This record gives sequence, structure tokens and C-alpha cells, in this order.
Amino acid sequence: MNIAFIGVGNVGAPLADRLQDQGHTVAIAARDPQSQKVRDALSRNPNLLVQAPLEAIESAEVVFLATPFAAIEPALTPLKSVLDGKILVDCTNPVGANLTHGLQSQISGSETVQQLVPNARVVKAFTIYGYENFEDSNYPGYGELKPVMLVAGNDFSAKEVVADLCHQLGWEPIDTGNLSMSLHLEHMTLLWINMARVQGRGAGFVWAMLQR
Ligand SMILES: NC(=O)c1ccc[n+]([C@@H]2O[C@H](COP(=O)([O-])OP(=O)(O)OC[C@H]3O[C@@H](n4cnc5c(N)ncnc54)[C@H](OP(=O)(O)O)[C@@H]3O)[C@@H](O)[C@H]2O)c1
Repeated sequence: MNIAFIGVGNVGAPLADRLQDQGHTVAIAARDPQSQKVRDALSRNPNLLVQAPLEAIESAEVVFLATPFAAIEPALTPLKSVLDGKILVDCTNPVGANLTHGLQSQISGSETVQQLVPNARVVKAFTIYGYENFEDSNYPGYGELKPVMLVAGNDFSAKEVVADLCHQLGWEPIDTGNLSMSLHLEHMTLLWINMARVQGRGAGFVWAMLQR
């Protein structure tokens, strides 16, 4: 599958690296091919392609958005028409001051992304944990039980594609419903950050699902 990344920092670089390892063709949609983040991503995995954003998105079936939330508008607006019909995996989180929801919980960040690119098939995923868990999703000692990746989106077939990518990266994908569920996922992110980084539990924990 052809996959493009808008943003290859803490989150984008390990996801791009691991998806390329799975055999996908992964391109960095680079606004600046010489940026430190692009160079770091390439030193992690020299097999990543570096392309101009329009070119990278045009040939991609799935696009990952992994910029700071404040950058979603400048990052997406020039790409609006090429994103028509594409699966857009929204990895961003609107985090406000003192670990509050950056949009005052009035609307989710992912719905805001969808408003910017109305014809993209937005799926929220890869948000509820710190990037350390995207570098390494392995939690040995739990038998068949795998860490969950909660996803949300309005387009069922797009969620199926993203669920398959989650499986490939070692996660148990769980469909939480429509894109409006992203608001709850964004609050889960705040919970995770608070526990991991404020309370000092550390980044090495994730959620799992038990069901009967
Ligand atoms: N950090 C985490 O643990 C974590 C976990 C889950 C989700 N998230 C969310 O994931 C997103 C990325 O976080 P991060 O920690 O990976 O950030 P980061 O390390 O700062 O990387 C940000 C990336 O976004 C790119 N970027 C910034 N402004 C841009 C613009 N206007 N147009 C295009 N690209 C732009 C940067 O490109 P350049 O190469 O040009 O600098 C860089 O590659 C955030 O929304 C964050 O809330 C973070």
C-alpha cells in the first residue's frame, strides 16, 4: 500500500518506519526535505521516500496526519483537493493549557480536521498513547491479549483499512463508532498523558479490552 506522512516527528517517524518495515511504500510529504525531523526519520529508516506534499498525497492511498494540532490548517489547506477520497488517519490531539481539551470539549479535533478536508475519509487512530508505544507496541507476557488501538470515523471501509494497519503494527483495533467519538478518545489521551507524564507512571503502559 502507498502511504504518505504529513509530519514525521515523535509520532510520524516511528509509524512510518514500522509501516515501511511491513512492506508498504511510505513517503514523507515534506514541506522542507532538509528539516531536522525529516533527516531524523531518514536516519531511522533510509527506505522512506521524501516527496513534495502534493506528489506524496497524490500517489497515496492512506495519509497520516501527525503535525501539531495548531498546524492542521496550514498543513491541510494546500492539499485539500488531492485529499478528496483519501483515507486520512488523524494522529493529532488538541491539547490545551494544563492538560485540558484544546477545543474546550466543544468539538473534537478530528471533526475539525474533517471540516478542513470535507471529502477526505478521516479516521482517528494512533492518539491515545505516547509515541513510545508507537515505537514499540510489544507487551509480552499477556498471551493472546494485545494492546488496543481505539479508532473512530464515519467511513466504515476506511476504518477497515486502518484496522488492518493497526493489526500489522501489533495492536487490537477497536472501532468506537463515528468520528464524533474522537472527543472521548481525546479525553482518554489527556488521561494517559496525566498518568504517564504528570503522575510519573511512565510511558510503558497501554489499555487492553476484556469482553464477554
Ligand atoms: N508526542 C506524543 O507522544 C503524541 C502521541 C500521540 C499523538 N500525538 C499528537 O501527534 C501530533 C504530532 O506530535 P509529535 O510529538 O510527533 O510532534 P513533533 O515531533 O513536533 O513533529 C511534528 C511534525 O509536524 C510537522 N509540521 C509542523 N508544522 C507543519 C506544517 N505547518 N505543515 C506540515 N508539517 C508540519 C513537522 O515538520 P518539519 O519536519 O518540517 O519540522 C514535524 O515533522 C500532535 O498533534 C500530537 O498531539 C503526540
